[in-house]
Amino acid sequence: MKRILIVGSLNMDTVLEVPYLPRAGETITGKNITLIPGGKGANQAYAAGKLGGDVVMAGAVGDDSFGDRLRANLKEVGVNTTPIVEISGVPTGQAYIIVDDNGENSITLIRGTNGEVTCKMAESWKKYIETCDILIMQLEIPLDTVLYVKNLAVNLGKTVILDPAPAKKEFPDGFWQGIDYIKPNETELSILTGKAIDTKENIINGASEMLDKGVKNVIVTLGEKGCFLVNRSVQKFFPAEKVKAVDTTAAGDCFTAAFALALSRGETEDEAVNFGQKVSSIAVTRKGAQTSIPDASEL
Ligand code: RIB
Repeated sequence: MKRILIVGSLNMDTVLEVPYLPRAGETITGKNITLIPGGKGANQAYAAGKLGGDVVMAGAVGDDSFGDRLRANLKEVGVNTTPIVEISGVPTGQAYIIVDDNGENSITLIRGTNGEVTCKMAESWKKYIETCDILIMQLEIPLDTVLYVKNLAVNLGKTVILDPAPAKKEFPDGFWQGIDYIKPNETELSILTGKAIDTKENIINGASEMLDKGVKNVIVTLGEKGCFLVNRSVQKFFPAEKVKAVDTTAAGDCFTAAFALALSRGETEDEAVNFGQKVSSIAVTRKGAQTSIPDASEL
């Protein structure tokens, strides 16, 4: 099995369950509040580890109980957390997540130590980049660090997967060049391209724009509908299984991790997309980020 390295964020999620998402100026009464390990990077590492992958996580946490709990959770599913740097005097990243009765959420991030993941820190991860086969990143750490790590990995011929979330509008030159897969949802693709993404034609055009920027494959996830895989020779739709969603938090992270895990086992792209959809369709039926992720026996 190939090795997967995740470079990215770790957050402690404070999850508020509410009947509906409050409007500006409105006060509502919540139903429950829970602390759940999260962060897009850590969720991907946790999912790939829980599903049986050979996984290493690199990122940063604070010298606090959230940092300890996040690392312990990853270790429990066999993730190698050795490269995670502990920074004193900066709190571990946090996310405040509001989830409504329909499973829709809104997320506010406090970057904490995720904002301190510098290129210098990433330099100390060179041996992990050299010894991995597949690299996964997201956009919750500084963009120049993502670019630096991506360039190292591309030059070494690694398979690079980027989850462009949270999506941004501005990127440094050469940012997209050489990335093997990006996995935006419709909203993220719309932010990346500055165009509406609401029809099949829009999705293909938006994905093609990302191919023109240097990405080799674009997987556009469409929630309960399924996803599109677009590259220079394929434009293929994969329908999703119908499930009753209770919380969509980390569904995209599960997809990315499961897709990478299937590739690490030597499966084809199509098989990997189907596996990604299968794992995320289970995750949305459960509450929380890492608490919602299934293990291999459940599949
Ligand atoms: O993708 C879900 C994740 O986004 C949450 O766990 C939260 O920490 C934010 O990073």
